[in-house]
Amino acid sequence: MLSIKAKSITPSITMSISSRVKELKSQGEDIINLSIGEPDFTTPEAIKKAGCKAIEDNITKYDAAAGNAVLRQAIAEKLKDENGVHYTADQIVVTNGAKQAITNALIATLDPGDEVILPTPYWVSYPEIIALCGGVTKVVKTDKATGFILTLEDLKKHITAKTKVVLINNPSNPTGNVYSQDELSEICTYLADRGIIILADEIYERIVFDEPFCSIPSISQKVYDHTILINGLSKSVSMTGWRMGYTATSQKLAKAMAGIQSHLTGHSCTITQAASITALKDCENDIEEMVAIYKKRRDFIVRFFQDWKGLDIVPPKGAFYVFIDISSLRSYLSEDLSMSFCSEILEQQKVAFVPGISFGEDDFVRMSYAASMEDIEQGLNRLKAFIENLKK
Ligand SMILES: Cc1ncc(COP(=O)(O)O)c(C=O)c1O
Repeated sequence: MLSIKAKSITPSITMSISSRVKELKSQGEDIINLSIGEPDFTTPEAIKKAGCKAIEDNITKYDAAAGNAVLRQAIAEKLKDENGVHYTADQIVVTNGAKQAITNALIATLDPGDEVILPTPYWVSYPEIIALCGGVTKVVKTDKATGFILTLEDLKKHITAKTKVVLINNPSNPTGNVYSQDELSEICTYLADRGIIILADEIYERIVFDEPFCSIPSISQKVYDHTILINGLSKSVSMTGWRMGYTATSQKLAKAMAGIQSHLTGHSCTITQAASITALKDCENDIEEMVAIYKKRRDFIVRFFQDWKGLDIVPPKGAFYVFIDISSLRSYLSEDLSMSFCSEILEQQKVAFVPGISFGEDDFVRMSYAASMEDIEQGLNRLKAFIENLKK
């Protein structure tokens, strides 16, 4: 009964961890959940109010497939003011979260068998979305030693006549790495010169701690012309459940993507869209407060690993994840290293992490610090106890 596509979807490892967490919690266990991929803050009050007002004002009917005109203009202004990139409203398509933005972009650009280059470690949904859109994923390994930054040398080795798209996620889920302008410029100029599309997923762009963020289309006109920019409000203003994402690209591609979306979902929720105008215009202070809290947590975690020296990390520069190297534990755990690490620590110490294998890197686990400082501190102490026990 199932199609080949449906059968090819890998069951989500993250889902199996979260259902075990739920099960243990329902048994009254004190679980520290550091596996979560969404902000631990509530949506700012002004956005919630704007959502309620949209319902009262009856903004509850069909709208344009590409999204509300006022919102698209607000997105264009945000991109100009914050990222230094110029788009007109008709280059923007509002989507049901960044996931749908990526899906629209790949449906609009891939023919069967076209290759998409995906640097590891990658966000779990990319290979599945690429496959659903008829593409073939070609992974390029990046290294802990280079801070998980894709190098031009490695990229070049994987380009073929069939390479249509290269996906760059900056800041990265799961490593928290952030590319510098020079690093991006080298890779993206090379790709643009060869007519390859850059799918730039910048959903974590507001959550950076050390250096200024560089948006890929701001690099040069040629790079701009070859980029499909993916962004949204899920992470920056804690709106994961509202489902608000967008693409910014050429008018031609935007028209194609709006056409695709018109048949798939119509458009994103009108109430969400109305509230998103407030999120873009009136929530700078909320964003800054949240980022300052993430930074405090990041600094605490980095200090913990530096002092402890039990396991190694590359200090993250953005997003709210840290990728922990567990390769030194191979002789203590079973062959499916990151899976067995995560199930053992969950059962023994009641701490949840995500196995690195779901991001294409079995030597690591992902810890999320979208959690309270108390949970982070407790979780790290339990991690330390787990490793000490394991090595006994
Ligand atoms: C790198 C990356 N891109 C896209 C998304 C999807 O975002 P949304 O919830 O807006 O669909 C996520 C969510 O975890 C993500 O981590």
